[in-house]
Amino acid sequence: MATLIPAPLDIESLRKDFPLLARTVHGRPLVYLDSASSSLQPRPVLAAMEQYYETCHANVHRGVYTTAEEATARYEGARVSVGRFIGAPDPEREIVFVKNATEALNLVARSFGAATLRRGDKVLLTEMEHHANLVPWLMLSDQIGIELRYLAVDADGRLDLSNLDRKLDGVKVVAISAMSNVLGTIPPLQEITDAAHAAGALVVADGAQLVPHMPIDVQALGVDFLAFSAHKMHGPTGIGALWARAELLESMPPFLGGGGMILDVRLDRFVPADPPHRFEAGTPPIAEAVGFAAAVDYLEGLGMARVRAHEEQLTEYAIRAIAERLGGACRVFGPPAGPDRGGVLSLGFRDVHPHDLAQVLDQYGVCVRPGHHCAKPLMRVLGVTATARASIGTYNDERDIDTLIEGLTEAGRLFS
Ligand code: ALA
Repeated sequence: MATLIPAPLDIESLRKDFPLLARTVHGRPLVYLDSASSSLQPRPVLAAMEQYYETCHANVHRGVYTTAEEATARYEGARVSVGRFIGAPDPEREIVFVKNATEALNLVARSFGAATLRRGDKVLLTEMEHHANLVPWLMLSDQIGIELRYLAVDADGRLDLSNLDRKLDGVKVVAISAMSNVLGTIPPLQEITDAAHAAGALVVADGAQLVPHMPIDVQALGVDFLAFSAHKMHGPTGIGALWARAELLESMPPFLGGGGMILDVRLDRFVPADPPHRFEAGTPPIAEAVGFAAAVDYLEGLGMARVRAHEEQLTEYAIRAIAERLGGACRVFGPPAGPDRGGVLSLGFRDVHPHDLAQVLDQYGVCVRPGHHCAKPLMRVLGVTATARASIGTYNDERDIDTLIEGLTEAGRLFS
């Protein structure tokens, strides 16, 4: 059967949607290669948030006046849009709005983990986790004595799955990044989830890096929890989502207490509300939810298969061009370009410090992130303290990669 190749994105016209791309820095056009840290916002997202504030801002789930009802409808409508984007079967009950993917993962560990796991229970993580999917489990380990195990990262930057069944033996929870924020590695999540379920474990996926870049269907993936952040997918900061199967959320105690998350409160007890409101104490990020919905509408308008095809092709171009023009002087960490790799390019350039690289690149208008990328254990596995990370978004093109390489070449001259 012929494979359907999606029509390419019109990057030239898409770039016009992003006001920040019109900026210059040091007299050069901005080359934004830091979307893994935070992506830029297109006009429809900015306009949706402004329109919300201008026409119907009020608190949600409280007032009965017209604008309050409208604000509630916009907030709850956003929940449905965000849930549909990841194939959630029952978004009204299964999407919890949180601050970001970090809070979503803390919610799973502190609510589900603390209520379900006992001393000695085993949780399987990987060496390539972001601190957000590591520290909450370490905190739980300190608190109740769970045992943490790790899947290793091999020399190519992929997970070593050769001993998966042995590692899964006796494990209750597998918490795993769906795409590494350092290596771009996309592990075979469905295969790992099938093996985890066969071993009796639930799967928590950190989708912060994958959800913005690929079509996602939680039902096809089979995972039990998925965490992601709006600001990495052209939405605003301050909001993210946790998706979980409805019956799991039903079984979980609240994470934060306050207004909006209860059915009743007395001086000696309280009755929590049903999910998802059980997990949304206090005034939620309403305008941000409206912006989040506009961001998923925007991505759906582009077509996630086209987004992925564009970014996969650009990643392949970048890795090839860096090798051809900079040779052995520049190392790109992570697997070769291909279907199991996203557009995160962690670079080591000779012995130039990543912060120095980033500063030279800034003179070229190029935005990259230097540092450990909140993945210190992975840095130790890679044998470095930091990398300079260029990361690709929908709006990047080959000219951006060429400017990156121009800046790296200049850094090579300066630090020779
Ligand atoms: N998690 C984000 C990153 O990898 C901030 O840069």
